This record gives sequence, structure tokens and C-alpha cells, in this order.
Amino acid sequence: MAKMKATAFFCKECGHESAKWMGQCPACRAWNTMVEEPAAKKDSVRKTASGGIKVVSKPVKLEEVSIEEQDRISTGYRELDRVLGSGIVAGSLVLVGGDPGIGKSTLLLQVGRNLAGSGHKVLYISGEESLKQIKLRANRIGSIAGELFFLCETSLDDIEKAIREVRPEAVIIDSIQTMYREDVSSAPGSVSQVRESTNILLQIAKGMEIAIFIVGHVTKEGVVAGPRVLEHMVDTVLYFEGERNASYRVLRAVKNRFGSTNEIGVFEMREQGLAEVENPSEYLLSGRPEEASGAVVACSIEGTRPILLEVQALVAQTNFGMARRTAAGTDYNRVNLLMAVLEKRCHYEMSRYDAYVNIAGGVRMNEPALDLAIVLALVSSLKDRPVDPKTIIFGEVGLSGEVRAVSMAEHRVHEAAKLGFERCILPQVNMGKIKRADGIVLCGVHNVKEAIGLL
Ligand code: TYD
Ligand code: MG
Repeated sequence: MAKMKATAFFCKECGHESAKWMGQCPACRAWNTMVEEPAAKKDSVRKTASGGIKVVSKPVKLEEVSIEEQDRISTGYRELDRVLGSGIVAGSLVLVGGDPGIGKSTLLLQVGRNLAGSGHKVLYISGEESLKQIKLRANRIGSIAGELFFLCETSLDDIEKAIREVRPEAVIIDSIQTMYREDVSSAPGSVSQVRESTNILLQIAKGMEIAIFIVGHVTKEGVVAGPRVLEHMVDTVLYFEGERNASYRVLRAVKNRFGSTNEIGVFEMREQGLAEVENPSEYLLSGRPEEASGAVVACSIEGTRPILLEVQALVAQTNFGMARRTAAGTDYNRVNLLMAVLEKRCHYEMSRYDAYVNIAGGVRMNEPALDLAIVLALVSSLKDRPVDPKTIIFGEVGLSGEVRAVSMAEHRVHEAAKLGFERCILPQVNMGKIKRADGIVLCGVHNVKEAIGLL
């Protein structure tokens, strides 16, 4: 009798395993993502890799564990260091996800160059590009000095050998979806391959105290497993995002065992590779139309940094029975809620109008402190009356139209003062906490009506 092949079904979004096929993944609720793959053989998971994780055999107290300061290596980019939690930790596994073509390879090549330049040994392993292609890219980003080694390889066994031979301090794996292990029978990019490969890399990283960066493409369709399958295995998950046709890119930490997850790093894609944007506010406000209705400047806090940005709204009479609403760069439901507040508390007939809200520059911000700016942008567009371009606005709006306190108000005011703003509309409750205003006129408001009256 023919032996039954042992297969299982995996969700290629989240990696959920099931014995039978299902149209919808019960774990992440994605449709049509289950694919059939050979089930992971129990004995294929190596219990201890040769030189793998050293088992701590004796329980110890935390104070006996020493953490040295020099454990962190700087990447040479302050923006990236901040997202990682002040540098790379030896022995950590970092996943860098993002859409194809967003600049992941470029970023990591530049990081490799910086590390090599500061005296660290780096191995860059590409399964996607030939050495020639890498060289072409390297030529664009400038000269490379120091010990940066390249390898074009997709077999993990060979990669492991190379790592043991070169003994680098950092390894870059360009796209986990191209890597494969021979003892796993499914194709490269499948859920089990991607998982098993990461497992090996995890053991190498922890066992040899090497920092490993893994590139993972975000895939919308096809049989390639997405980086979410790996999120629980790695120490840090970074997503590189941005509009393909806008030049700046935002690096966001989604998970970080060695730092906070709300920091962002801002980069700009130039002819000569990625450059850091040290002052994102200036960047996001550049090219702002002054004297245009529906545009206001708001301030959002990302991690520890205040960032000024422009909120735009366009309100136009609706032509059909159903009013259209869109929100780009912010939460759609939040915009609907704010419009309902305007309708009910301030008696604007918003249901007769289409409304489009946009955060200029293609960034995505969801902080409640943007509420008041969105509301005032909508009113400004509705009345076709421009807001003074030297005014900055922040505050959370509640369902009864009240303006509620936000965190770090003083930081926001300072950032605005630094960039030459003259007036700030903010929640009245925050007024008491601001000691220094740096010459900015502060207008505290209790509710939305009061704020509209100030325009
Ligand atoms: P890449 O790093 O290959 O993206 P990923 O690895 O995420 O797929 O980046 C590709 C894009 O970046 C490509 O469209 C060209 C652009 N680019 C520049 O604009 N300037 C440069 O110096 C480099 C190297 C790339
Ligand atoms: Mg690439």
C-alpha cells in the first residue's frame, strides 16, 4: 500500500498550521492563504546546533548576569540606532520587512558599509542578486572600506559553513524567502522553508553572538510566505515603509526586545542611496501652500520626538446621495467620527458634503492629538477660509466636542517655536503645564466651537 505523504496546510500570512484546508485562516482571518506543504518532520529540528545555543545548566540570579556597555554597536545612522534602541545588540536577530523595491537591500548594504568602516567584520549574503548587481549598487552608495564580504548563496548549509569560516560580527541575509534547507522538501519561500531557515539563523546568532539582519519581502499574493510568519521568532521586527513614488521612507519598529517600539527613523532615497532625515518636520512641511484653505499644521509625537506635519482636507458638495469620505495617512473611522462630532455638536451639515482628508507627504500618523487639526482643516475647507500659516494645532477631540489633554504638550510647543511658528491652538487643560513658550502665543481651548472661533 502506498504510504500517505505527510502534509499539512499553512497560512502564508501568519504561519498557522492546520490538518485540513480552509478558505479562511482561523488565526489571522485572511482569506485564501492556506497552502499545502510537507509537514515539518519532528526530527528535522536540530536540538542543539553544532555550537548552537549553550544551555544554561544552573539557575542564576539576575544580578550575576553582566551586561557590558559595549554590547551595542552603532550602525552609523542615528535614525536606525534609535529605532533599534541605541544600536545593534550582539547575538540579535533583526527582521527588516517591506514592499519590494522600497530600499531594504540599499539600507542594509549601507549599514554593512558603515559597520565595516568602523572596524567590524560583516558578511552580506544575497540570494537575489549577483555580485555584479551588488557592485553596481555599491558604486552608487560610495566607496566601501574595511572587512565587508559578499556571498551569493541560497543554501543554508553553505551559508552556515561560510559564517563559521569568516566569523563576522554581523551578517545580512538578503531575503529569507530565497533561502532553503535541503532537508526540508518544500520550495524556497514556503512557510516551512522560511521558518526552518530562520530557526537555523536564530541558532547561529545566539550561539556565535552574531547580529543577523534578515530581509523579508511583504507579499500580497503568490505562494511566498510573508515576514509575519517570522515575527514571533526574531528579536526585533522593523518595517520599512513609504510611498514608492515619494522619496522618503519611514523605518518603524513593530517589535523590539531591546528597545521601545514607538520610535521611527526617517530616510530619504536619493541618487546615491539612502540619506538620513534628521529633521523630519522641516522635511514634511517643505513645499507647503500658504494661504490655501483646508490645510493646517499639526504636531504628532512619534516615540520621543515631536514631528510637525500638514493635515489637508477637501470638503466638496456631494453629487450623489451618499457622501464620499476618504482618509489617506490617518484612520478612516476616526475621520468619520470627527465629522459626526462636527455635525452634531457644531451643527455643520457634513452629510451633504464629500470629504477627503490627507496627511501630506505620504506618512501614516494615527495619534489622537491630530483630531483637532483634522476638525479645523475640515471646517477651513468647508468655509473656504485659510488658516493662518504660522499657527500650529494639536488636541484630542472627544465625542461631546470637548478638547482633551494630550501628552508632551511642552515638547510640541518647543518644536513649533523652533520652526518659526507664532501661534499654537492647544487644549486648555495642557496650558498649566507649559512653563516656557519660547515666544509662541498659546491659545487654550475647551471645545471644538471655541477652536473654530479662533480661526
Ligand atoms: P532596493 O534596495 O533594491 O529595494 P528592496 O531591496 O527593498 O527591494 O531599492 C530599490 C530602489 O531604490 C530602486 O527602485 C532604485 C532605488 N535606488 C535609488 O533611488 N538610489 C540608489 O542609490 C539606489 C541604490 C537605489
Ligand atoms: Mg532587495
